[in-house]
Amino acid sequence: MRDSIVSFLSPSSEARYLLLHGDAGAMLRQFPPACVHTVMTSPPYWKQREYASDSVLGNEPTVEEYVTHLVSIMQEAGRVLRDDGSLWLNIGDTYRGKNLSGVPWRVALALQERGWILRNAIVWDKVKGNPCNAKDKLRNLYEFVFHLVKQEKYYYDLDPIRNPPGQPYYKNGQIVTPTGVSGVKYRRQIQQSTELSDDEKRAALAALDEALRKVESGEMPDFRMIIRGTQRTAHSDSPRYSGRADEMQKHGFCILPYHKKGTKPGDVWRVIPEDRWRTDSHFAVYPVELCERPIKATCPPGGIVLDPFVGTGTTVVAALQLHRRGIGIDASEEYLQVARERIAQTAAQTASYQLELDL
Ligand SMILES: C[S@@+](CC[C@H](N)C(=O)[O-])C[C@H]1O[C@@H](n2cnc3c(N)ncnc32)[C@H](O)[C@@H]1O
Repeated sequence: MRDSIVSFLSPSSEARYLLLHGDAGAMLRQFPPACVHTVMTSPPYWKQREYASDSVLGNEPTVEEYVTHLVSIMQEAGRVLRDDGSLWLNIGDTYRGKNLSGVPWRVALALQERGWILRNAIVWDKVKGNPCNAKDKLRNLYEFVFHLVKQEKYYYDLDPIRNPPGQPYYKNGQIVTPTGVSGVKYRRQIQQSTELSDDEKRAALAALDEALRKVESGEMPDFRMIIRGTQRTAHSDSPRYSGRADEMQKHGFCILPYHKKGTKPGDVWRVIPEDRWRTDSHFAVYPVELCERPIKATCPPGGIVLDPFVGTGTTVVAALQLHRRGIGIDASEEYLQVARERIAQTAAQTASYQLELDL
């Protein structure tokens, strides 16, 4: 086992993925330290499902024991992760009787106590959710995806995950930005302002015209305007804390251009669960789309993504589609068989794509 891991990790290896059958903790102990860029995974929930495998994770009698067990496996994954790497942990909650267990936050806080830095608690909005017949509670529609890192400086490339800017359009002969800014409202606010001097009003109107011109010529994708006495600066009105507030005090307004490559995604992700790989033997598959942002942002092209609970192979499929390499571990041979079929198909498709790129 250790030999196949070492051979996969060697710089001369041309293998694009590696699947390992066994207990995640025991398998991870066979890895050398700091050899993967990203860990993305979805461990079995506590007491939610009876997995076909005889693995014990998820079957602990108490939530505390489940957290301790999962954290010990994540600590081992952390050892295998490079120091500038990222761990993405998708985890849902479980009711015991009528009581929600709070499992995701228990795990996140336990990891923080062991030195992990929690960068985001992303809400995966599943849009559809599972049916719920209870008459005294709401349907659950979300799970968490925690982004954790080992040190303050880590690999993170925001550009590939930005939301691409929309297209400006014309309305009544006037340019309108992709988010609907035509300038009419700002112009009125400037003209009617009792807080701007005449000089400041002239400068603000000129800046607004210039911003709209830049949107029309494609130099700026979109913008917002802040006008003294009308809009608040984002965090604080005090120039001590905010450069924007400083600009506002000096000029009475400021233009906030959107980033040329698009806006930063938020921490609520609407991703519809995939039904395609659902079978009676496995019904906790997460969608490829959920893995895309984590992999694009935190694993460099050609880097290695590891999933210690790979199930039907979704994380490795996503890694191959995004031209990264993938390692998957699972205790269930049955799920690994599904993973092998899916991954082989993806590997064949992405290999021919690679060939086309090379031509
Ligand atoms: C929620 S599922 C992962 C699903 C996966 N994300 C997918 O898309 O198919 C959790 C997986 O963890 C595996 N598992 C449970 N305990 C394990 C252990 N101790 N070591 C390795 N795998 C384990 C189960 O067999 C199951 O496939």
